[in-house]
Amino acid sequence: MSIVRALLGSVRERSRRAAGRAVHRGWRWVQEAGAVSNRNPGPYRFGELGDGTKLAFPLGTVFNEQWITIGPFSIIGERVTISAGFLPGLDLGPEPIVRIGGGCVIGRGSHIVGHQQIVLGDDVWTGPNVYITDQAHEYRDTELPIGKQWPRNEPVSIGAGSWIGTGAVILPGARLGRNVVVAANSVVSGEVPDFAVVAGAPARQVRGWDPEDGWQPPIRHEAPRPVPDGVTAEQLRALVGWDLRLPGEPAPEA
Ligand SMILES: CC(C)(COP(=O)(O)OP(=O)(O)OC[C@H]1O[C@@H](n2cnc3c(N)ncnc32)[C@H](O)[C@@H]1OP(=O)(O)O)[C@@H](O)C(=O)NCCC(=O)NCCS
Repeated sequence: MSIVRALLGSVRERSRRAAGRAVHRGWRWVQEAGAVSNRNPGPYRFGELGDGTKLAFPLGTVFNEQWITIGPFSIIGERVTISAGFLPGLDLGPEPIVRIGGGCVIGRGSHIVGHQQIVLGDDVWTGPNVYITDQAHEYRDTELPIGKQWPRNEPVSIGAGSWIGTGAVILPGARLGRNVVVAANSVVSGEVPDFAVVAGAPARQVRGWDPEDGWQPPIRHEAPRPVPDGVTAEQLRALVGWDLRLPGEPAPEA
């Protein structure tokens, strides 16, 4: 009796493991097949999708994508919402509403919600759950629900090379310069100069750079040490224990 029970237990255990492997393999297949690129656009017709750019599956809410352009070699994480206008199916005119440059990385769960103009320069990286919008609700009419008052739009721009920390909100009218750092959970409005670090809600400049004085106040942490000369790709692979070969790269000699 106990042998039968043990056998049944091990069969159940093995089927659970097989089911787990099948689910993960199936999900990976679905994610690869569902990822959107200019070669595999699925149902989407973006104004432009550069070569090498991918939107991970599942996507967030994406609509009026004819008015959305994304340059080459950008990565849009899972469940990222990118929309133009407040309803699908609108004619939004001759110009793109949301422009995302090349080499950008938009973190999982982020929202880029454009109505007039949102421009992200090249190589803008965001952490997860960042919210960028160019529209706010109007509230001055006390007779009308806020949601029914005509909203206000102000264009937003984020300069090339900027890094937006997780959970940050970029408000309508924000104009960020080049290589700006936005600290996690900051709420940013107005103008931010090139090479500034802004933090807090409302975000204030906590560090800046100019060619004469360099970083002020001085950066507190040590600069990371780059990989020393002479370290080989094999040594790095051995260090992390992963197979980091590029597609098509032959296996290292044992
Ligand atoms: C902004 C950040 C990069 C640090 O930059 P830094 O130039 O080294 O800044 P410091 O740590 O020297 O902090 C400068 C000031 O800003 C404040 N500050 C830093 N991050 C802050 C934040 N998220 N919110 C509020 N204040 C913050 C510090 O307390 C400090 O204030 P003080 O001068 O009164 O002491 C880091 O704090 C951060 O937010 N990183 C984002 C991490 C992230 O989201 N990663 C995932 C995305 S890939």
